[in-house]
Amino acid sequence: MTDQEGADWIPAGADLSRPSAARIYDYLLGGAHNLEPDRDVARKLEAIQPQVAAVARRNRAFLRRVVRFMLDRGVRQFLDLGSGIPTVGNVHEVAQEVDPAAKVVYVDYEPVAVAHSRMLLKGNLHAEALEADATDTAAVLKSEPVERLLDLDQPVGLLAITLGHYLPEVRGVFAAYRDALAPGSYLALTHLTNDFAVLSDPRVAETMRQTQDHIHPRTKDEVLALFEGFELVEPGLTTSANWRPDRLAAVVDPEEDGLYAGVGVKV
Ligand SMILES: C[S@@+](CC[C@H](N)C(=O)[O-])C[C@H]1O[C@@H](n2cnc3c(N)ncnc32)[C@H](O)[C@@H]1O
Repeated sequence: MTDQEGADWIPAGADLSRPSAARIYDYLLGGAHNLEPDRDVARKLEAIQPQVAAVARRNRAFLRRVVRFMLDRGVRQFLDLGSGIPTVGNVHEVAQEVDPAAKVVYVDYEPVAVAHSRMLLKGNLHAEALEADATDTAAVLKSEPVERLLDLDQPVGLLAITLGHYLPEVRGVFAAYRDALAPGSYLALTHLTNDFAVLSDPRVAETMRQTQDHIHPRTKDEVLALFEGFELVEPGLTTSANWRPDRLAAVVDPEEDGLYAGVGVKV
């Protein structure tokens, strides 16, 4: 029996023959929603860089911190682009713990991510998962869940956590979301780069070419350009572990941390 057969988390008709970033990331975080081809790529990445799972965990911790930060600043609605397969500390869980009426729309184009999110959100009136390509900005912004759950005249927390590096053209996509959001909205992102040692081995991008999600690492200036129209909040563009760490002990050398991370507020 293959590991696809009999698995109730695999949506009917989904073609999972090619490894995906969502399922590789799930494996790296210790999840169970992945298949042998995904695990094979994940193991190859770990053989190139044993720190890759630690990078994923720190990225996930950054996501939780930025959601709490935005909640502290009064944000009560979130648009999570490239939301991935649910794992511990999902956006709606962090947000609805603070305000049970906080709204969340998850967007991903990977069928397992969307199906599992929908399963988890059953009965939750304030959060929904949308299956869409985040680069189709009009389709996302005009989608039923966005129109029903989010009030775009009020500040939104826009999350693009490890999304940008999967997109070959990125500035226009981010600009379209920015233009749709009210002033006072926040953008949080993390982004792969070759500026730091940990993930700069060319075999990382090469290995990801076996998947449906090729990667496009970018330089600091290219990542900063994604914040056009936003004012970066302190400490500016840094790396995921070093953005407002909960504890000083959690600070990590950027060369090991690897992902650019930052939060901006729309002016
Ligand atoms: C590494 S996961 C990150 C999940 C979550 N944002 C986090 O940081 O914990 C990246 C996600 O982006 C999704 N993704 C990549 N390109 C996308 C696109 N064009 N539209 C929607 N989702 C996309 C993948 O399917 C995957 O689930």
